[in-house]
Amino acid sequence: MLVMIELLNCDCMEYMATVPDKYFDLACVDPPYGIGISSNPVRQIHDKKKWDDTTPNDEYFDELKRISKHQIIWGGNYFNLPPSQGFLIWDKKQPHDFSLAMCEFAWSSIQSPAKMFRFSVLAEKGKIHPTQKPVALYEWLLTNYAKKGQKVFDSHLGSGSSAIAAHYFGVDFVDWRRQPSARNVLRQLLICRMPTAPISRPFLLNSRTVSWQLRGRSATS
Ligand SMILES: C[S@@+](CC[C@H](N)C(=O)[O-])C[C@H]1O[C@@H](n2cnc3c(N)ncnc32)[C@H](O)[C@@H]1O
Repeated sequence: MLVMIELLNCDCMEYMATVPDKYFDLACVDPPYGIGISSNPVRQIHDKKKWDDTTPNDEYFDELKRISKHQIIWGGNYFNLPPSQGFLIWDKKQPHDFSLAMCEFAWSSIQSPAKMFRFSVLAEKGKIHPTQKPVALYEWLLTNYAKKGQKVFDSHLGSGSSAIAAHYFGVDFVDWRRQPSARNVLRQLLICRMPTAPISRPFLLNSRTVSWQLRGRSATS
């Protein structure tokens, strides 16, 4: 079975408005927490940007729940979400005097026991994004909460970790990114982070949307 990874350049709200109800099996998203993290002095190697100044509004979460059967939402402690049994923790394996958060919280709609993934935040070198999560974290999520061949959605691409994990795990995947320069950034991140992946030439879906596809990986291997 071929898997299709689509990375598209557009505001996620515009895209979600076009998606039928419950189209995706899983939405695994990492929206802005609204804490100005990209201006954090500890992360000065990255450009200061404004994308983390506010959280998505209620309409975003309503749309997410409309288009997907289940949701995993990183930063769930910052958003207005109902009580959930199956929350998830990423333990970054850092000491108590670590200058940033030692762990992160994801809200989940999946009613199963809460789980924790332990993986050092320092394990992945050469980060290209101020809030980059490890590919290993997304592989763990897909292994536990998705099945090969399903459709998975991430509304906030960042460095592309979720897309790379989807490629290796074997789910169809759509991810959204809206920066004006996203076309080049997307291309660079695919080439830098997945040098051996079969990446298609970019093609235009409409005047604002550019898509790349990763093809040819067997979802059953
Ligand atoms: C928390 S970061 C995601 C980090 C990502 N999980 C990773 O591992 O690299 C959120 C990203 O969403 C982008 N973003 C913010 N608002 C957006 C929107 N309305 N549509 C699409 N992307 C958006 C930001 O520019 C930022 O790159």
